Amino acid sequence: MTQSNVAPKGGLEGVTAADSAICMIDGSTGELRYCGYLISDLAEHCDFVETIYLLWYGELPTSAEHAKLRADLRAQRELPETVEASLRTIADKQSPMDALRTAASLLSIDDVEGPDTDRETNLKRAVRITARFPTIVAAYDRLRDGKEPIAPNSDLDLAANFLYMLTGEEPDVEVARMLDVCLVLHAEHGFNASTFAGRVTAATLSDMFSAVTSAIGALKGPLHGGANTAVMHTLLEISNVEGVEAYLDDQLARREKIMGFGHRVYKVVDPRALILRKFSEQIAKITGEPRWFQMSEKMETLMKARKGIDMNVDFYSASTYYSMGIKPDLFTTVFAISRVSGWTAHVLEQYANNRLIRPRANWIGSDAREFVAMDKR
Ligand code: COA
Repeated sequence: MTQSNVAPKGGLEGVTAADSAICMIDGSTGELRYCGYLISDLAEHCDFVETIYLLWYGELPTSAEHAKLRADLRAQRELPETVEASLRTIADKQSPMDALRTAASLLSIDDVEGPDTDRETNLKRAVRITARFPTIVAAYDRLRDGKEPIAPNSDLDLAANFLYMLTGEEPDVEVARMLDVCLVLHAEHGFNASTFAGRVTAATLSDMFSAVTSAIGALKGPLHGGANTAVMHTLLEISNVEGVEAYLDDQLARREKIMGFGHRVYKVVDPRALILRKFSEQIAKITGEPRWFQMSEKMETLMKARKGIDMNVDFYSASTYYSMGIKPDLFTTVFAISRVSGWTAHVLEQYANNRLIRPRANWIGSDAREFVAMDKR
């Protein structure tokens, strides 16, 4: 029986698992770059389509490349009949992330590319999967409410079309741009749990649909993408600014984690959270309901004072999405609608230079022992 001399730190903390050219995070200074570009520049100057292109091709698109990807994404939004039919049967039984996982897996049903696994073919798969996520989520949400899905509007970009498919109304231009930037902010984040899960699956040379399905399963948990929904539940439970301090102190006294705070990599504030804080404030002005922003601000200040812990990307995305009229239990699916671009970028990178991902466990079990027959146990 072999035993490693070095006990591993839990959760693979500090472990570098592979080379990657997609995303650089400096957790000590709060710097995040996609393919070399600062996240704040991308959020200010780019749209989600440009960001997707950057992640998949490693370069910002020319206007012709941007127009082509935009058109390709718009053309692939319709769901295969089987996927919509199964959404009809699961909508009132499965949670949003469970339904997205089921439907994403089913997307392989019209994998017209067949068994080809070259990069060009996988890029077509990436377009189709990314284009269809918003349609899945919106159709699911309407079906569980007993309403018919709304067909995608090919005049609208992904964020605006998603809000349109949820409600049947074209969203305010400022709100649609804000959601588009939220998608830019959530698109990619290195070897986070869901991306790593996707890469592990891809590294067995399994297909892109399977890798994305693995990633959705990992994103669902409250320590990862599920935190944004949990933040909103917390805000709704507290319900007013006056209740924030007592709630926080009570939770901390019971050593409970406060959702939307803390990060494995960032030791300073997450740069995406700073942009989302502005959005939360901005949308509160549009809706005329400042409560969620004010509660969040108070919680952020108190958490820093009590524990020295900063907010993460999920914290202000909760109040922002809620003020956009998105239901709290859909927040993690909105994360997935964006992050699928990063997952597929990583799957492409993994395939381009593949080696099976297969770590070892440090043995802490029993010493070697003799087998005991069942009647002697
Ligand atoms: N609320 C209260 N305390 C927190 C905290 C939080 N959200 N996040 C971290 N801490 C504290 C822990 O209690 C621990 O304190 P201790 O050393 O006194 O026990 C310390 O900070 C380290 O936390 P740990 O959970 O070991 O860090 P991690 O790197 O394993 O976890 C997260 C990172 C993100 C999972 C963790 O911060 C967390 O659970 N956050 C809440 C969920 C969330 O918002 N997830 C979205 C991440 S983008």
